[in-house]
Amino acid sequence: MPQTVKVETQNGKSAKNGAEASKTNGTKTELAVPHGRTRHVSGGVEEILDPFCDPNNPQCISFHDVTSAAFLIKGGVERTPCPKSKSSDSYGMDLYLKKDFLQYTGSFKERGARYALLSLSEEQKRKGVISASLGNHALALCYHGWKLSIPVTVVMPKAAPIMKVQKCRNYKARVVVEGRDMGEAKSLAMRMSKEEELLYVNGYDHPHIMAGQGTIGLEILEQVPEPDAVVVPVGGGGLIAGIATAVKALSPNTKIIGVESEKCASFTNAMQNNGPISTSIKNTLADGLAVPKVGVNAYATALPLIDRMVVVKEEWIAVAILRLVEEEKCVVEGAGGAGLAAILSGHLDDLKGKKVVVLLCGGNIDTTVFGRCLERGLAAEGRLVKFNVEVSDRPGGINDLCALLVRVGVSIKDIMHERAWLRDIYTVEVKVICETVDWTHSLELKNELKKFYSKVQFCDVPMALNESSER
Ligand SMILES: Cc1ncc(COP(=O)(O)O)c(C=O)c1O
Repeated sequence: MPQTVKVETQNGKSAKNGAEASKTNGTKTELAVPHGRTRHVSGGVEEILDPFCDPNNPQCISFHDVTSAAFLIKGGVERTPCPKSKSSDSYGMDLYLKKDFLQYTGSFKERGARYALLSLSEEQKRKGVISASLGNHALALCYHGWKLSIPVTVVMPKAAPIMKVQKCRNYKARVVVEGRDMGEAKSLAMRMSKEEELLYVNGYDHPHIMAGQGTIGLEILEQVPEPDAVVVPVGGGGLIAGIATAVKALSPNTKIIGVESEKCASFTNAMQNNGPISTSIKNTLADGLAVPKVGVNAYATALPLIDRMVVVKEEWIAVAILRLVEEEKCVVEGAGGAGLAAILSGHLDDLKGKKVVVLLCGGNIDTTVFGRCLERGLAAEGRLVKFNVEVSDRPGGINDLCALLVRVGVSIKDIMHERAWLRDIYTVEVKVICETVDWTHSLELKNELKKFYSKVQFCDVPMALNESSER
């Protein structure tokens, strides 16, 4: 059964309205800069809290904040296309793909980053900003800081991909690689923000970041009027908070559906807990969504506007990445493919026959990870299979096996044989990896092998996505 959490929508009503904390000035919303607060944690280590993300006083953004962001960032970020998917018919819905991975740095994060930078006071523009990030937010902030001549410092944990670190440096930012994980990187960034009077810009929870991401919602409604649903990947929650704010204001009947990976379902957990709570994160293809605790502002803004959260298995994300390459010629990262994964997995079958927009929000995937994703996707779809079979060691034994494979029409990717560890010295074990047309073709291969050989063993795919498998 799909693991779906349904939330009652109270359109337009915020969980806690902290919007008073912002005041509007023409097209620009200025946030009163709250005083930084510190808290002592065990071991006497001082933890500095982000004054813009106060759990006791969450700030909700408004539709006006999103339109202000749209006005300010216009011309500075791409207005990305949202064409109808070539596979609409096969998915049984009018499916549109909002291609925000086509932004210069490869993700939607530029929208929020640019708006946050443009909204700084003149003094803060001179001093600069700081943030901790593993990737997309850092790239976006560094790139727009460079374009706007605003100094940017990013603290990236040691696990950050080396290419992303290098790109941030290419954008002339000060890059500090420190900390075993994001938690440590963020603590350091917060300390530096206090010492050097740099404004800390949280990548998903700063109100300007959320408002900037909301501009995707405005564009979607211009490109696809009154869609039945908009499907949005969720990490810290800023993206869905912004989009939901824009979409629900202009098209209240449009459903907002959030998607998380089973390996990091922190928004779903927050909903079950009635508030943000730390969730343990496991390795995921959707590393952009791997945020242990959703933002307090993002949660307060998004909760009343989200219609449904969906949690998808990792294999569906791999299949989504594969399908997007094969059918749409789009290269997306795991987080970017999570929306389509929700459709492929059958979680959104109730939207068949409807007009649905899926956000492809990021394309920054490591080349080696990309290769592995494609293979995993093929395996999950039953199009790449691996089996061991014991055949006769007599001349022609392997030839017979190959003849069978030719007859079934599969393509051999890898084949090796081994004889030392077998009980019967007149047999040889052959290990084969081959490509098939689809799941049914793989079953045909399996049945045919079983007809001719008594010892055949197919390797289990972590979760083979056949018709009968649990969705
Ligand atoms: C490609 C991509 N998609 C989605 C998200 C999730 O955005 P948010 O953290 O605002 O929920 C991220 C966050 O980094 C991302 O990089």
